[in-house]
Amino acid sequence: MSQAPIHPKLWSSRLAFILAATGSAVGLGNIWKFPYITGENGGGAFVLIYLLCIAIVGVPVLIAEIVVGRRGGKNPVATMQELTEQQGLSKAWRLVGWNGIAASCLVLSFYAVIGGWSMAYIIKMASGVFTSSTPEVTSSQFNNFLASTGDILLWHSIFMLLVIFIVARGIHAGVEKAVKLLMPMLFVLLLVMVGYAMTTGKFTEGVKFLFYPDFSKITTEGFLAALGHAAFTLSIGIGVIMAYGSYLPKNISIARTAFSIAILDTSMALLAGLAIFPLVFANNLEPSAGPGLIFVTLPLAFGNMTGGLLFGTAFFALLFIAALTSAMSMIEPVSEWLEESKGLSRAKSTLLGGVVIWFIGLGSVLSFNLWSQAYPLSFISIFEKKTFFDLVDFFVSNLMMPLGGLAIAIFAGWYLPRKGLPEDLGLFNLPFKIFMFVLRYLTPLGILVVFLYNLI
Ligand code: TRP
Repeated sequence: MSQAPIHPKLWSSRLAFILAATGSAVGLGNIWKFPYITGENGGGAFVLIYLLCIAIVGVPVLIAEIVVGRRGGKNPVATMQELTEQQGLSKAWRLVGWNGIAASCLVLSFYAVIGGWSMAYIIKMASGVFTSSTPEVTSSQFNNFLASTGDILLWHSIFMLLVIFIVARGIHAGVEKAVKLLMPMLFVLLLVMVGYAMTTGKFTEGVKFLFYPDFSKITTEGFLAALGHAAFTLSIGIGVIMAYGSYLPKNISIARTAFSIAILDTSMALLAGLAIFPLVFANNLEPSAGPGLIFVTLPLAFGNMTGGLLFGTAFFALLFIAALTSAMSMIEPVSEWLEESKGLSRAKSTLLGGVVIWFIGLGSVLSFNLWSQAYPLSFISIFEKKTFFDLVDFFVSNLMMPLGGLAIAIFAGWYLPRKGLPEDLGLFNLPFKIFMFVLRYLTPLGILVVFLYNLI
């Protein structure tokens, strides 16, 4: 018996899709946000709530987006057009596709800037500038780096070129080949980093910070943070997963696949926490979230530990890989759209999309230096102190992602023809009924609550 030929426009296996989608999911959010919000919000108690949110909002929208993507089989705009035209639904549904293309370009525009920082820090770390450094040195290193427009522009451009170069080669020769190499590397690097963290003598303190369940620390804010992060970390809402789903072969059952992605994503986030916090505590540093933790606190920790040069360099390589595989997925909607609707080759459409995204990213590059005091929408009170970078982040994370996710959940739950759905999902009878109930009621409600809360 000969094997079925590999379709040029489909993933070659279930594993290939899982790796690509996990690559998209595991990103900066897993490494610079999840461990911190977990520690701050009651450790193990928060992890339980987070898992509940993954089950109620994350996985259902992930499943919905993959189903819609595979049924349409095209870029997000064409997919929404096709699926709604068949049933004579409003043209407004196509906005889900347009929102996806616009939002994924916007996220990538600033994500690539930070991806560039991770590359620059691989070299900085390896060069030994942080060896025996002090808090003053690591923070001035970071501030000087941000102040140098030329430096961040250079790294931002290199990062975008890499993304374009890989994705332009197509689903097989580009994305699949890259994730099959990079995802195992990411995993091994994470394990190595956890192993290193075990040598610090503060491993149990890190484990406690992450896992000790303190239910008294659970607040409304913590609950909402868990819900918001559950959606963000799975890359849902903006057509990226829809585009990846459009390449999924028909015979693969979606529910099981989505669970695997969610489990891998959560495990990697927890491992990141186990890798990071023991180092922070071993050096009597303060755990914090975001760029401060990664680019200031950790270099200080590495700079003062045996083996810090090697492991610090490995850590930034890990961060870079996580950012790269997420960035690759963000360019897919626009690339697929240009390819299908404008008849461009894969290479040309990726290049064109990439150049536009790079150009928008210049606004974020400048937000850290020349435009750091420029607040484009300062005439609106809630945007008063927000730079270009802050604004793009705000619009994408607080508006486009939740609204997109909400619309996808409602579309898949209420409008998508039920015929064949259990087979698509690989869920039958009671599990199918439970899933549909969650998707139709709980998921939209959950997203709505976070959305309104974040606006107010
Ligand atoms: N999941 C990514 C992370 O944790 C970030 C992300 C959010 C994303 N939305 C996305 C990535 C859409 C790709 C596509 O860092």
